[in-house]
Amino acid sequence: MIQATTARTVLVTGASRGIGRAIALGLAQRGFDVVANDIERQSAHLDGLVSEIEGLGRRAFALHADVSDKAQVTAMAAAAIERAGAIDAVVNNAGILITSPVETLDDGIWDAVMDVNAKGTFLVIQALLPHMRARGYGRIVNIASIGGKQGAPEQAHYSASKAAVMGFTRVLAQEVGALGITANCVCPGIILTDMGRTNLEDPAVKAKWTANTAMRRIGAPEDVVGPVAFFASDESAFVTGQTLNVDGGIVFD
Ligand SMILES: NC(=O)c1ccc[n+]([C@@H]2O[C@H](COP(=O)([O-])OP(=O)(O)OC[C@H]3O[C@@H](n4cnc5c(N)ncnc54)[C@H](O)[C@@H]3O)[C@@H](O)[C@H]2O)c1
Repeated sequence: MIQATTARTVLVTGASRGIGRAIALGLAQRGFDVVANDIERQSAHLDGLVSEIEGLGRRAFALHADVSDKAQVTAMAAAAIERAGAIDAVVNNAGILITSPVETLDDGIWDAVMDVNAKGTFLVIQALLPHMRARGYGRIVNIASIGGKQGAPEQAHYSASKAAVMGFTRVLAQEVGALGITANCVCPGIILTDMGRTNLEDPAVKAKWTANTAMRRIGAPEDVVGPVAFFASDESAFVTGQTLNVDGGIVFD
C-alpha cells in the first residue's frame, strides 16, 4: 500500500460522504493527517469522519466552507495551514450534479455546477499555492470525471465543468512544475454514491452501465482511493498534468 512519505497532511474537499469520505479515510490509513472540508450542513457527518480518522491514530480537522465562495475558501486555507501546520496535498473532490437537457437547462443551474466543480477547484488551488510555493512542495489531485470526456445525456453542463477541470490542471501543471508541485486529475467512472445514484436509479440503466464496464461491476468509493493516494504521494513525483480514468474500463484513452 502506498504510504505518505514527504507528504503528510492532505486537505480533502467535499469529504463528508461518498468518494471524498473514502479518500479522507483511505489517505489516513496510508499515514496522512487530514483536513476534511464540506459545506456547513454536513457538519455532523464531518465530525463523525474526524473521530474515525483520529481512531486510526492520525490528526484530523473539520473545516466548513463552500468551495465556490472565495472568502470562505481563503479563510479555510488559512485555518487549514494554521491548525495542521502545513498542507502537503490537496484533493479537490467537492462536486455537484444536477441533470437537465440542454434545451431546457436553466442558466442558474449551469452557473451552480460550474461554480462548484470548476471555479471551486480553481479557488482552493489559488488559495493554497503561495503556501506550496513557499515550501517548494505540493501534490494537487483534482477529481474530474469520465463525464468530462464522454459524458451522458442531460449532463452537458456537468461534462463541461469536468472538462474545464482537466484543461485547467494541464496548464496548472506547466506553471507549477518548477516549484516542486504536481497537479493531476482522477476521472472516476460510475461510482455508487449519493451522486452516482443519479446515473443508476433505473435498473435498466444500471444494467447497461454494468454491461458496458470491462470489469462488469459498478464502482465503490474505495475504488478511487488507491489512484488518488498515488498522485498525493511521492510515488508520482515525476508525473504531472495527467488524467487517469478510474472506471473499471468504460473509457479507453
Ligand atoms: N459518483 C460518481 O459516479 C462520480 C463519477 C465521476 C466523478 N465523480 C466526482 O467525484 C466527486 C465526489 O462525488 P460523489 O459521488 O462522492 O458525490 P456526493 O454527492 O456523494 O458527495 C459530494 C460531496 O461534496 C460536497 N459538496 C457539494 N458542494 C460543495 C461545496 N460547494 N463546497 C464544499 N463541499 C461541497 C457535498 O456536501 C458532498 O459531501 C465529485 O467531484 C463528482 O463530480 C463522481
